[in-house]
Amino acid sequence: MRSKRIFLAAAVCCGTAALGPVAANPASTGLPWMDARLAPGERAGMVVQAMTLDEKLKLVYGYLGADLEWKNSKRPAESRLQSAGFIHGVARLGIPHLWETDAGLGVASQAGPDVRPGTALPSGMNTTATWNPGLAYGGGAMIGAEARAFGFNVMLAGGVNLVREPRNGRNFEYGGEDPLLAGKMVGAQIRGIQSNRVISTLKHFALNDQESGRTTLNARIGDQAARMSDLLALQIAMEEGNPGAVMCSYNRVNGVHACESSYLLTEVLKQDWGFRGWVMSDWGAVHSTVPAANAGLDQQSGMPFDLADYFGPPLKEAVLNGWVLPARLDDMARRVLHAMFEQGAVDHPVKPAPESFDRKAHAAVSLADAQEGMVLLKNSAGALPLKKTAKRIAVIGGHADKGVLAGGGSSLVTAEGGNAVAGLEPKSWPGPVMYYPSSPLKAIRKRVPSAAVSYHDGVDLAGAARLARSSDVVLVFANQWTAEALDVPSLSLPNRQDDLIAAVAAANPNTVVVLQTGGPVTMPWLAHVPAVLEAWYPGSNGGEAIAAVLFGEANPSGHLPVTFPASEAQLPRPVLDGYPEVKDLRFDVDYHEGAAVGYKWFDLRGEKPLFPFGHGLSYSEFALSGLAARVKDGALDVSFAVKNVGKVAGKEVAQVYVAPLGVRWEAPKRLAGFQKVDLKPGASANAAVTVDPRLLAMYDSASKTWQVAAGDYKVILAADAAGSKALSQVVHLEAATYDVRGKRLR
Ligand code: BGC
Repeated sequence: MRSKRIFLAAAVCCGTAALGPVAANPASTGLPWMDARLAPGERAGMVVQAMTLDEKLKLVYGYLGADLEWKNSKRPAESRLQSAGFIHGVARLGIPHLWETDAGLGVASQAGPDVRPGTALPSGMNTTATWNPGLAYGGGAMIGAEARAFGFNVMLAGGVNLVREPRNGRNFEYGGEDPLLAGKMVGAQIRGIQSNRVISTLKHFALNDQESGRTTLNARIGDQAARMSDLLALQIAMEEGNPGAVMCSYNRVNGVHACESSYLLTEVLKQDWGFRGWVMSDWGAVHSTVPAANAGLDQQSGMPFDLADYFGPPLKEAVLNGWVLPARLDDMARRVLHAMFEQGAVDHPVKPAPESFDRKAHAAVSLADAQEGMVLLKNSAGALPLKKTAKRIAVIGGHADKGVLAGGGSSLVTAEGGNAVAGLEPKSWPGPVMYYPSSPLKAIRKRVPSAAVSYHDGVDLAGAARLARSSDVVLVFANQWTAEALDVPSLSLPNRQDDLIAAVAAANPNTVVVLQTGGPVTMPWLAHVPAVLEAWYPGSNGGEAIAAVLFGEANPSGHLPVTFPASEAQLPRPVLDGYPEVKDLRFDVDYHEGAAVGYKWFDLRGEKPLFPFGHGLSYSEFALSGLAARVKDGALDVSFAVKNVGKVAGKEVAQVYVAPLGVRWEAPKRLAGFQKVDLKPGASANAAVTVDPRLLAMYDSASKTWQVAAGDYKVILAADAAGSKALSQVVHLEAATYDVRGKRLR
C-alpha cells in the first residue's frame, strides 16, 4: 500500500492559545482605529495623527525590564519582572505597552531570583536539523503561547545568523549554514509564535556571525555575496514568517554599525524587501541619535545598555531642530503601530495567566522536536538501537545522571525543577551553565528495568575504562557548552572528553557516543566507536528524547544543517579573528569566502568534511527514485519518489541540489529544495519541490535583480550534500531576470 504522509501542514501543539479579550470596539471607545476591519496601515496612520510628539517619542524608546545594579538602574514599574524589554504604550489612545521576552527557545528570564519556569525547546540547530517546517511552526506556537501566558506580547526570537563560523557561541540559537533551510525553518517558527498574537522579531540583522568582538568587529563583505548568503536567509525568513519586528545587530558591516546602516535598514530591509514593521536595536547596539534614526533604526531597546539615551531627550532635540524630520519620527512610530495592529497586540491584549498553559502538552512538543532533530551520525555493526537484552550497561560522563545541557546567554530558559547541575563555571553571565532535570540515565534505566545500569562521571579516565571493560555496552556522553558572548576556542570537545571517549572505546569496542553540542565538533576517536548520536541541546525533555532514540522507540530522522569539518584548517578562517577577545579592540573580519558558506566552501575547495551538510542516518533504509526535473515558464519543478525499503517506519529528508554546468556560481552547487517524508516499511511517496528562482540566479547589485544565466544545470536528488544515493538530471534554463524580491521581470 502506498502511504503518503508529507509534512506540509503545521503541527500546532496545544490548540488555540487563549488570545485574550478582543479590544473594545470603536463605538464604545470613540477611537476609530479600534475598528479591526480596517487595514493595519490605516489604523496605524490614524493613531500617529492623534499622537503628541512626546507620545511618539515614548513609543520608540525601550527599557530593560530588569534592574541592573552595575548601571544603578531600575526597571520601569509596569515592566514584567526580570524581563528583556519594555516600551510604554499610550493608554489614552488604547495602545498597550510592549512587554518583551527572549527568545527563540522559550520564555527566558533575566538574571535574578524570580525566574519563570517554562518549557525549553531544543536548540534552534536541533529544530533546523528536523528539516520539518511543521515542527518548527509547532514549536513556535508552543513558546508563543507561553509568552502570552506570562504576559508578553513581543518575543525576541527568529535568530537566523548563518553558520559562517562553526566556533560561534550562538550557533545553537540559529538555523544552520544554508540560506534556504535556515530561512524556511526560522520563518516557520516565527509564524508559529505570531499565531498567538505575539509579535516575533527576526534577528540579528545582519552578519553577526561570531561573538568574539561582536560589538566592535567589522564584517567585510560585498553586496552581492551578502545578498546571496546571510541576507538571503533573513529575506526568506521574513517572507515566510512576516515578523513584526527586526532586531539590528551589534557588529559593524563594511565600516558602519548595523543599527545605523542605511544600507541594511533602509535600502535592503525596508525598500528592497518591503518590510513594514519596525527595527529595534539589540541591547546596547545604538551609537548615535541622528545617524541611527535617519539610517532607519525605529526604536532603541534595552536602556540602560547603550552609552547614552540616544532616542530619549536627544531625539526630541533632533526632531525639534529638524535634524531628524518629523516625518521620520512619524514613520518610526507608525512602524511600531503597524506591527501591533497587524499581529494583534492591540486587538488581543495580553494579561499574565502563567498557569493557563498545559505544561504536559508543551513538554510533548519539546520532546517531539528533540527526537526528530537528533542526528545519527554513525551506526555500524548494528550498535543502535540498543537491545533491551543487554545485562550490563555503562553510562559515562556528561552529567547524564542528572540532566541535559542547555546553551547559555539571553535565550536560556529555566525549566521546571531548576538547574540539575548547579555551580558549574561560569555561574554568572553568560552562565549559569544549566542542565535541565531530564536525566538520560533515569530514562535509560526505566527502559531496561532488569539490566544493571551503572553510572560513572568520567572524570577519572582509568575508572571509566574499568567500568567500560566490565559492561556489555557503553554509552558515553560528551558535552560542549556554548553561549552568547563567547565563542569556543576550537572545535575539540572540552575537558579531556576526547581522551575519555578514546579510553572507554579502547576498553570496550561496543561504545556509543552521545553528543550534546552547540554545533560541529571534531572526533579524533571516530574510527574506534561504532555509533555516534548528535543530540545538540535537546531541551527540557531531552533525557527522555535521547533514551527514546537510543532504544529505537523514535527512529532518528535529523539531518545536519551544518557541515562538520574534519579540522579547523579546512575553514575559511582557520584561526578565529578576535579570539580571545580583547576588550574594545576594533578589528575586521574579512569574509573572503563571500557567499560560499558551509558546504559551498567545502565543495569549492574540494575539502572532505568529517560529516557533510544534510547527513543523517535512520534505523530504516530509504531509496530515492523517479527524479523528474521540468522547466515550465522559467520555473524549475522537481518531482521524485521516496520509498522506505527498511523494516521500521521512519522519515527521510530528500534534498534537491542544483549545480550549474557552464555557468559560474559562488560554489559548485546549492541546496534548492527539500522534502521530509514519513513512511511505513515498504511504503513510498511522491514528492515535489518548486525551486525558488533566486537559488538558480546570481544577484546583480547594479540592477538589483536576480539573473539566471542561460545554460545547462544539473539537478541532483540526494540524501546529503556529499551526494549519497544521488540521482541526477540535466535541465536547460533560459536566461531570466527576477526583481530583488524574486518576482519575474523577464
Ligand atoms: C542579545 C539579543 C537579546 C537581547 C535581549 C542581547 O544581548 O544579543 O539576542 O534578544 O540581548 O536580552
